[in-house]
Amino acid sequence: MQFTADILEQRLSSVLKEITGSEFPAVVRPSANPEFGDYQSNGVMAAGKKTKQNPRQLAEKAAERLDVSDICEKPEIAGPGFINFRIKPEYMSRALLEVAADPERLGIDEVQIPKKVVVDYSGPNIAKEMHVGHLRSTIIGDCICRLLEFAGHNAVRQNHIGDWGTQFGMLCALLERKKESGEEVSMALSDLESFYREAKKLYDEDEKFAQTARAAIAGLHRGEQFWKQSWIDIIEESRKHYSQIYQRLNVTLTREDERGESAYAEDLQGIVEQLRQKGCAEESDGAVCVFPEGFTSKDGSPLPFIVQKSDGAFLYATTDLAALKYRIEKLGADEIVYVTDARQMLHFRMLFAAARLAGIAQNQNLRHITFGTMLGEDGKPFKTRSGDTVKLKDLLEEAVERAYSVVNQKNPGLSEDEKKSIAEAVGIGAIKYSDYSNSRTTDYIFSFDKMLSMDGNTAPYMQYACARVKSIEKKAKEKGIDADGEIEGLQKIELAEEAERDLALHLLKYGLAIRGALAEYKPNFITAYLYELAQKFSAFYTNCPVLSSQGITRSSRLILCRLTHQTLRHGLKEILRIDVPEKM
Ligand code: ARG
Repeated sequence: MQFTADILEQRLSSVLKEITGSEFPAVVRPSANPEFGDYQSNGVMAAGKKTKQNPRQLAEKAAERLDVSDICEKPEIAGPGFINFRIKPEYMSRALLEVAADPERLGIDEVQIPKKVVVDYSGPNIAKEMHVGHLRSTIIGDCICRLLEFAGHNAVRQNHIGDWGTQFGMLCALLERKKESGEEVSMALSDLESFYREAKKLYDEDEKFAQTARAAIAGLHRGEQFWKQSWIDIIEESRKHYSQIYQRLNVTLTREDERGESAYAEDLQGIVEQLRQKGCAEESDGAVCVFPEGFTSKDGSPLPFIVQKSDGAFLYATTDLAALKYRIEKLGADEIVYVTDARQMLHFRMLFAAARLAGIAQNQNLRHITFGTMLGEDGKPFKTRSGDTVKLKDLLEEAVERAYSVVNQKNPGLSEDEKKSIAEAVGIGAIKYSDYSNSRTTDYIFSFDKMLSMDGNTAPYMQYACARVKSIEKKAKEKGIDADGEIEGLQKIELAEEAERDLALHLLKYGLAIRGALAEYKPNFITAYLYELAQKFSAFYTNCPVLSSQGITRSSRLILCRLTHQTLRHGLKEILRIDVPEKM
């Protein structure tokens, strides 16, 4: 069904066209201040200015001609030419009944022109533990995919893992050495971080080892089976680590979505050739570089985007150009979204510019979706007490442990199994939700206490709100009230109280929140919407008794409860993929 804001906007825009003779968007949005009505148009001023008419008079004329009596009261003019709309309860009732009849999509249509969007996210580096930066990329990227899919687009997930590069020479060399000395290999790999450190140390200190490592990388690049097997073993071990994390985070990335740097190894020479042929790469100090326009270093000289070093080696940039080409040519992307922290901003800006220069990308939309740094409570980048980077696995474990004690305190009577599964949902949910609820682009302070608090915009508060709404229907049943029957038979939703009206109006804005989140790829639009919904529900529930009322009032309130539950649940579970326990 069409969003209320869109219907009003269309009708007003066509009236503006009738009056002025040209196209002006009426720009209808929910009002920031309920005193001015529920929706507001602020496009009339621009129309007035452009056509040299007094905007207020134009607004009056337009409001006079506008027929929206099926939706709202008589529109009101305010200030220099705003038009305010107050929605009629009968309209809300009709719209909500439509939403109720469509529990899967909650009345939100799929887009008419679906795009194919490649979403590049997570991208852990093999043989290094995933750190908090990968956490943000993983969950934000996943939410973007879910939003796109819900809207009807085709999201193609790509996990650009760091599985290629010179460090593999030393890793493979060390693995070989361990195999030779009869050491148990799976043990050696179970802690990839220390394996990496050991290899690095040997590489720096032992020339013979360094030689083997160089031979290994050369052999690997030539595709020698001997070295390839070690490389496969190392990746497989690493994959075990991160797939466990994906599973726990409840994200939708699978093995099929993995296409790491190594997948492009064969294409890199060709990319450099292509750039040279197009005349957009040149040699500079022995290296092959692209100099896209508009990028300069501090001293004003053009900044190089290096694609091949003087020793012939290719770089992160070369691989990214090859990946971009693959995504456009083979995957047919209309849009490519890269989710990484803001520190890679320059890399992606130059990548996009170079790709366009070389004709690899044309009219495709290329977007770098950045995020800020996760900070410790001291305001510095998040580290362990000893100053190491925090391992994601430990972080998730701690969240679940802390959630367990919250659950245990709140509800000691639950069985051990129940406590454990609620703790998992709350702990993981808290980490995800607190990340989503912060504006993606800013740094934020990671605080277990805050994210596990039962008050405020947190996962446990939202999960609790959801469980509480659900429990109303359970109580209804106990009282012998047939909620299903009452809801099904309802012809009209009564919205007499201010709190009912407020809740109803907000329920009808879920689609707008989804659309806003998609436009900017900002999950916090969803959390903000859901939090407001929980608050409005709370006000409604305090002011409007449900089970002790009678007749149409009770049925109307029951349906408001159900719609609230469905919407909360949809946002949490389907979009954010945060589990919602039945009870808490
Ligand atoms: N592995 C990279 C890192 O850890 C992230 C990969 C991002 N994707 C890309 N196509 N460059 O920083």
